[in-house]
Amino acid sequence: MIWPDDLPQTADELLETGLLNQWYLVCRDTDLGTGPLGLKRLDRNIVLWRDKAGKVRALDDFCPHRGARLSLGHVCDDDIACAYHGVQLDCDGMVTATPPTPKSSLVGQKLGVSYPCEEVHGGIWVYFHDRLEHSVTPPPLQFPEEFSTGEWSGFLDIRHWECNWQLVRDNQFDPIHGSFLHVGTHILSGGKKDADMGFERTELGFVVWRKNQQGVNLDKTWLNYFPGSGFWAITDLPYPRREGGGLGRLFRFPTPIDATHTMVWNYRMQKMSGWKRDIWRFIYKTKGVGRGLTVLSQDCVALEAIPKDAAKHESLMQCDIGVAHIRRLYKEEAERQIRARKMAVAAE
Ligand code: FES
Ligand SMILES: [Fe+2]
Repeated sequence: MIWPDDLPQTADELLETGLLNQWYLVCRDTDLGTGPLGLKRLDRNIVLWRDKAGKVRALDDFCPHRGARLSLGHVCDDDIACAYHGVQLDCDGMVTATPPTPKSSLVGQKLGVSYPCEEVHGGIWVYFHDRLEHSVTPPPLQFPEEFSTGEWSGFLDIRHWECNWQLVRDNQFDPIHGSFLHVGTHILSGGKKDADMGFERTELGFVVWRKNQQGVNLDKTWLNYFPGSGFWAITDLPYPRREGGGLGRLFRFPTPIDATHTMVWNYRMQKMSGWKRDIWRFIYKTKGVGRGLTVLSQDCVALEAIPKDAAKHESLMQCDIGVAHIRRLYKEEAERQIRARKMAVAAE
């Protein structure tokens, strides 16, 4: 067992920087070139690089020699070499060379912490385990079925906001804000203001929807929860006829950077095929990205201005039923993780 004191000690602390033991999108695949890339996610510094075959590898961005950032070093065949004194580590965190002291006892020891990685759907995903072991075998990274049916096409959008990730998560389970915060925008300008919200549990989580209107604004949001793999907030985005009509769908979940910064990402998908798909992709690239940015900027301004301790003083309404349920689910999982770690530590 390694570094248990570095881990959050309570469920609330854990929630500040994100649940562990699940997959997180950390960047676009194109962000990682031939050299190392240092990133902060879940309040941890990690380094990514590609081995000779192009496979993405990840370790804690910490050299076990004297703590330099491995991301300042360089890729050496399949391994990463520290810039400070040249110590090399492989993708499992094993020290493979110590050039200044070639016969050092460090060689052959697993001193770095490694993370499983996947490169898929335009992004790089990292499994953030709780560091109780140097490396883990993760559960499979799971995507909603729309990613594999071949009927949907889409784009990945990534932004960085200055707020805690839980505000972004709550925002994604609050479809009704579309009728207020985003009023007047190209696709979220219509429909009713009042909303009697329905709630139902589903096989993969729950769904919340506006009972008095569907298919006009952000009227329905649901959760796909793959325990041990990750959470997906999914929201239907109906396009008005003047925008070409059709059904859009947002697939998202925030990745914490630290307690006050969040990587906000979403796959914006459309169910279309053939030439209609080609036209939609062209229109989205030429006009849709900018328009989407207008909507996202409204969310960003609103969330960044919410005080850090707002949840202690807020007063929820019936329309917040999705927010209440996603919070509860996350809190339960955070408590379960803390209990499991305490038991693991006690059993040592
Ligand atoms: S700190 Fe990395 S080789 Fe010395
Ligand atoms: Fe929004």
